[in-house]
Amino acid sequence: MDDPQAIYHAAEIIRKGGIVAFPTETVYGLGADAFNALAVARVFEVKQRPYFDPLIVHVASPDNVEKLVKEIPSNAKKLTERFWPGPLTVVLLKGDTIPDIVTAGLPTVAVRMPNHPMALSLIKESRCPIAAPSANPFGYLSPTTAEHVREQLGDRVDLILDGGACPVGVESTIVSFLDGKPRLLRPGGLPLEEIESVIGRVDVSPTEDRPSAPGMFPRHYAPRTPILLDWDEKSGELSKSENIGLLAFQEAENHLKFSHVEILSKKGDMREAAANLFTAIRRLDVLNLDLILAEPIPEIGLGRAIMDRLRRASGTRFADDSSDRSDSPDGHIENGGKESRKK
Ligand code: TXA
Ligand code: MG
Repeated sequence: MDDPQAIYHAAEIIRKGGIVAFPTETVYGLGADAFNALAVARVFEVKQRPYFDPLIVHVASPDNVEKLVKEIPSNAKKLTERFWPGPLTVVLLKGDTIPDIVTAGLPTVAVRMPNHPMALSLIKESRCPIAAPSANPFGYLSPTTAEHVREQLGDRVDLILDGGACPVGVESTIVSFLDGKPRLLRPGGLPLEEIESVIGRVDVSPTEDRPSAPGMFPRHYAPRTPILLDWDEKSGELSKSENIGLLAFQEAENHLKFSHVEILSKKGDMREAAANLFTAIRRLDVLNLDLILAEPIPEIGLGRAIMDRLRRASGTRFADDSSDRSDSPDGHIENGGKESRKK
């Protein structure tokens, strides 16, 4: 089918309560009519996602947010005006129209306007906001091509719209605005520096209660092969195995023999690295390696989201990163400086 016809068909499926995988600029989503609780329940079922993990509601225009939420704080408005459509999700107080299953019973709802022509046409044609998580089985890497979706959920979804590879490659940045206070819930495709250049300082300390974004679970976005992030070339342990893969940021000299090397960006470009991240890990993950060594990258701009996903993939998210999220005032760059606030 050509694009318009495929989208028309997909929208019809959504309107009838079906579920459709579709491309966004970040990763592929698995969508259902956000007002249809039964259809949304099927999304949870297909993904085997726990019901306490809320979904993002996707809109085709900022005007459509008003009827989903109680209010839009001015800082949230500033961000959506500046960065939508784009890889930014805002968490706001929920209105009454959204069924509880979408938000896992929370008083808040996550909303985003994606920057992808197919996603936007699908939402418009469906004539409803679309609730969609990433289109992967729960806990596994998000899909950045239609092929990834087909491999993992192919027989369980009603349709997959193929829009090619996702240009951003990591999920959206999530910012909540409760009690008027912007807080980073998940670093993502929109760098924190850009957000802070518009609204000033954003709280990056972790929330104490249950994870409000289960993307915050220590082991999430995880491949089957163990990933090691903190390693040393000289460590004797590593030379014992013949079957190790390397996930490198740039082409780098190293003295270990790897069975396979994936390079995220030859020229060291963060955008390119983010766009290649999940595909590169997937490629390594199918090789039956004993171990994947990942090269740490600078936590600047998109590097923050990349390192976040690598830590979760390696299961070390909360073990080693207290400094990373400690929000120390002296390391903080007030106005969207180019450096990370870390160190
Ligand atoms: O880029 C993206 O955000 C992609 C594309 C498809 O839009 N979507 C995505 O959805 O990554 P998902 O479900 O894989 O991740 C959404 C995250 C989850 O960790 C969820 O817990 C969090 O958003 N979230 C959703 N609603 C929330 C809420 N009301 N409060 C706090 N966190 C929320
Ligand atoms: Mg996900």
